[in-house]
Amino acid sequence: MTYVLDDPGRRASLDPGGMAELVVRTADFLREGWELGVRAALPEGSSPSHLLVLGMGGSGIGGDLLRSLLYDRVRFPVTVVKDYTLPGWVGPEAVVFACSYSGDTEETLAAYGAARAAGAACVAVTSGGRLAQRAQEDGVPLVRIPSGLPPRAALGYLLGPMLGALQRWGWVEGLEEEVTEAEALLRSLAAEWGPEVPTAHNPTKQLARSLVGRVPVVYAASRLSEPAALRWKTQLNENSKVYATWNVFPELNHNETVGWALAGQPEGLLEVVVLRDPEDAPRLVRRVEITREVALGGAAGVHQVHARGTRRLSRLLSLVLFGDLVSVYLAYLNEVDPTPVAVIDELKRRLGS
Ligand code: F6R
Repeated sequence: MTYVLDDPGRRASLDPGGMAELVVRTADFLREGWELGVRAALPEGSSPSHLLVLGMGGSGIGGDLLRSLLYDRVRFPVTVVKDYTLPGWVGPEAVVFACSYSGDTEETLAAYGAARAAGAACVAVTSGGRLAQRAQEDGVPLVRIPSGLPPRAALGYLLGPMLGALQRWGWVEGLEEEVTEAEALLRSLAAEWGPEVPTAHNPTKQLARSLVGRVPVVYAASRLSEPAALRWKTQLNENSKVYATWNVFPELNHNETVGWALAGQPEGLLEVVVLRDPEDAPRLVRRVEITREVALGGAAGVHQVHARGTRRLSRLLSLVLFGDLVSVYLAYLNEVDPTPVAVIDELKRRLGS
């Protein structure tokens, strides 16, 4: 029998929702999302006091990526809210992206209501649901993205419109070049790491194999890669149906590192993946090296995944794409369908009844 990752028939039967195909299309979704944002009917705006992104799970991660991308490039703070309520400082000078793929996520709807009540300028990004309805009733600009995808597979549709809107408002330099480079890079990486590329030549499949039966521990070597580490963890949870954890340097050196004293027991439980970026400061690289020597002895394995590309968006999304593919391949190896998230559906159903 051919090995599952390299057998198109077995991959297809384990993945009837086509999650691998959707991951491979990240570049298309980013480009389309960007176009939707650039063309959206947005009010003219001067630079805000704050930029907020409201969104849960697969709809919130776009905000985390945006915050990392803009960290030292804008003069206003970027805050991601994954909750029902807003910080007390939100007011009429704030600009708010309310992101919910389904449009029916109660936390995001509540936070959107709070943003409206605070007088903030809102933009809704959704495929429909109550968020689309409320935005239309409220006269709030609405970026309507295509429906029918698992939210976490729609990352490009959720991040792209925010980047396109920021380009329209002219608050950030160089976004168009960044999106163009990221789109091209994601296409070539999808060809390099996609399902058709055999395990022998495919580092994403090789890493998935190393994670079978382990608890993945994903560390970002620096703040830039932090949302990519979170994305790895959440994709491993939702696609591969495994428990996973994540953290970021240097903070983890001040607490989590100590926990490794007994973390090697039971032996072979934890497998570490460190996400690296070419702009990681030398002190952080040194921290990764020393941490490996003094603390990670109990890990079954320690891997490093290096960002590809030149500009920041490409580098971040190259790490995301790598992890997304690893999570789908690990689902195949675990013989689970990557698409359904039955527990999330059940939670939402019970909360709604
Ligand atoms: C499902 C997924 C979830 C959802 C989250 C919020 O694929 O990734 O994390 O994104 O439950 O739902 P939406 O995105 O519809 O607001």
